[in-house]
Amino acid sequence: MRIDILTLFPEMFASFLDGSLLGAARAAGLVDVRVTNIRDFAEGVHRQVDDRPFGGGPGMLLMPGPVVDCVESVQGRDAVPGHLVMLTPGGRRLDQSVVEELARHDRIVLLCGRYEGFDDRIRQTLLPDEISVGDFVLSGGEVAAMLIVEAVTRLLPGVLGDAESSRQDSFSGSDRLVEGPQYTRPREFRGLGVPDVLLSGDHRRIAEWRHQQSVAATDRRRRAIQPQRSVP
Ligand SMILES: C[S@@+](CC[C@H](N)C(=O)[O-])C[C@H]1O[C@@H](n2cnc3c(N)ncnc32)[C@H](O)[C@@H]1O
Repeated sequence: MRIDILTLFPEMFASFLDGSLLGAARAAGLVDVRVTNIRDFAEGVHRQVDDRPFGGGPGMLLMPGPVVDCVESVQGRDAVPGHLVMLTPGGRRLDQSVVEELARHDRIVLLCGRYEGFDDRIRQTLLPDEISVGDFVLSGGEVAAMLIVEAVTRLLPGVLGDAESSRQDSFSGSDRLVEGPQYTRPREFRGLGVPDVLLSGDHRRIAEWRHQQSVAATDRRRRAIQPQRSVP
């Protein structure tokens, strides 16, 4: 898979791209991630990319010219233009099913906003898939893009040593359950033990216990988040 990230702050991605699982996936050629500076498409000595909003209001908006030129240039660099994602708080909410959808594309292009966001004609011209990583406001789309890169990369064939581990992760599979409690050594920690069933060696009982724990954890989570949902 190829992932392009378009940003005004390419330096934010340096250590992220080399880290752990993602660095190994890139080295193995399983994912090709490229970062492009939107400012390279700005004109004039000051390479201006933002300006004040018409009608007044605080802050600056990203201007359509440099952003649209950047997206069109990057998309044109490959036979497949790729699925364009605009990171924006008002987009559809990212969850594991959206991540799975993105992982099915051969190429995705992640457009990071900054300042007070995008001039709306960028959206009108490019018709991107608008995605939000949650109902809160970040200072830029870079961390949101990192979330997507990391979540999508885990799903690519060959990236996780054991493909089964992503199928057993929270929110995966048709039931979308969250994972129940897990334990490793030592057998006792500060007076807390490990459930006997996990030490029994009986794989059928262990699978049943894990499923029950997952259902219970999912139910607890649902009850914990429900009150927030009722807030307008
Ligand atoms: C400070 S925010 C702009 C917020 C915008 N004025 C608003 O109220 O919706 C700057 C940029 O950060 C990114 N961003 C902020 N919060 C985000 C979120 N929850 N999901 C995705 N991107 C986000 C977007 O790219 C956005 O253009």
